[in-house]
Amino acid sequence: MRELGRPVDVETLELAEPREGEVRVRILASGVCHSDLHVRDGEWPRPTPVAMGHEGAGVIEAVGPRVTDRHVGQPVALSWLVPCGSCRACRSGRVWGCAQSPSLRHTLFDGTTALTGADDEPVYSYSTIGTMAEATVVPVAAAIPLPDGVEPAVAALIGCCVSTGVGAVLKTAEVPAGASVAVIGLGGVGLSCVMGAAIAGAGRIVAIDRVASKLDVARSVGATDGLVAGDDPAATIEALREMTDGGPDFAFEAIGRLPTVELAIESLPLGGTAVLVGMTPFAARASFAVYPLVDGSRRILGSNYGFADPAVDFPRYAQWHLDGRLPVERLIDRRVALDGIEAAFDRLRAGDGLRQVLVP
Ligand SMILES: NC(=O)c1ccc[n+]([C@@H]2O[C@H](COP(=O)([O-])OP(=O)(O)OC[C@H]3O[C@@H](n4cnc5c(N)ncnc54)[C@H](O)[C@@H]3O)[C@@H](O)[C@H]2O)c1
Ligand SMILES: [Zn+2]
Ligand SMILES: [Zn+2]
Repeated sequence: MRELGRPVDVETLELAEPREGEVRVRILASGVCHSDLHVRDGEWPRPTPVAMGHEGAGVIEAVGPRVTDRHVGQPVALSWLVPCGSCRACRSGRVWGCAQSPSLRHTLFDGTTALTGADDEPVYSYSTIGTMAEATVVPVAAAIPLPDGVEPAVAALIGCCVSTGVGAVLKTAEVPAGASVAVIGLGGVGLSCVMGAAIAGAGRIVAIDRVASKLDVARSVGATDGLVAGDDPAATIEALREMTDGGPDFAFEAIGRLPTVELAIESLPLGGTAVLVGMTPFAARASFAVYPLVDGSRRILGSNYGFADPAVDFPRYAQWHLDGRLPVERLIDRRVALDGIEAAFDRLRAGDGLRQVLVP
């Protein structure tokens, strides 16, 4: 991406050799996440030019000098938040909150990038991993080894939407068995919230989207009920309350639009929790009625990356997938070449289809 809000293109870049503490990963799959679209559409400030993509997996094909804890041929999923390992958040085990991460600068640890264009022009690597590419050079801490047998497209999704959605339910909200759950928005992130709610043993899982066909997919990964959202949020809230005995204990917003953020909060019963997972344009502000929130002891939680500790959680989620508990393959409906990215963005913008995966 050379300019925010403009079409992205496929370019040939130079990739430097991995240095000490770095590995080169051959990318085998890169999911197309709505966060990539927020970036493509210029909704978040980001440096350019940048190699896009943050939901990728592949195999290690070279290791830098003195790297001993990774080896060539190892299957890995890439983490879009590379923890510094020493800041306050990292020291307290909340690596998703690392404020010193090079991923926030889209560079390697020393501020340089392994990518150069024509005339030695430096090119940023999105979240330090720039996965919409044939290969990438990343810090060791970004390349998380997975158990054998996980298909690359599934491994890629573990790198973003699966960890985000499953973790929002199990780690951020800590949904208890028997609770009622609503998930608003059934893309890769929302369907992962549904899978997480099923693992949590939620009693009722209401899947909500404006596209009716997504409700069937949600049912196939654990939803007990489906609700098609029309243009009137009040009608959706009323139907949801009816299905959940007065409102869901937990409402996950997995879109990032103000009307659905407000819908999630407004639908809550006494003591209910809204978990905001969808990301809005940078400066967006929502509103809610303060009195009932306080009076009804309701809660609003934000959840970044599903509170993932990638080194621990990626292999765990991968094993759950291999055990049949996380049917991630059902989230994927289309594989496209790198130069199909703009068409993939068009489909994502239109809400057409499920998770798309780029196969370089
Ligand atoms: N918190 C995090 O760490 C994190 C991580 C990854 C993605 N995200 C964000 O999560 C959001 C979802 O990502 P995704 O890749 O699953 O997106 P997606 O576009 O695949 O899914 C969004 C879904 O919402 C549905 N939808 C849109 N408007 C609706 C409405 N008014 N009512 C009901 N349904 C509606 C669409 O049909 C679609 O199925 C994005 O904002 C993304 O940036 C956040
Ligand atoms: Zn993502
Ligand atoms: Zn840190």
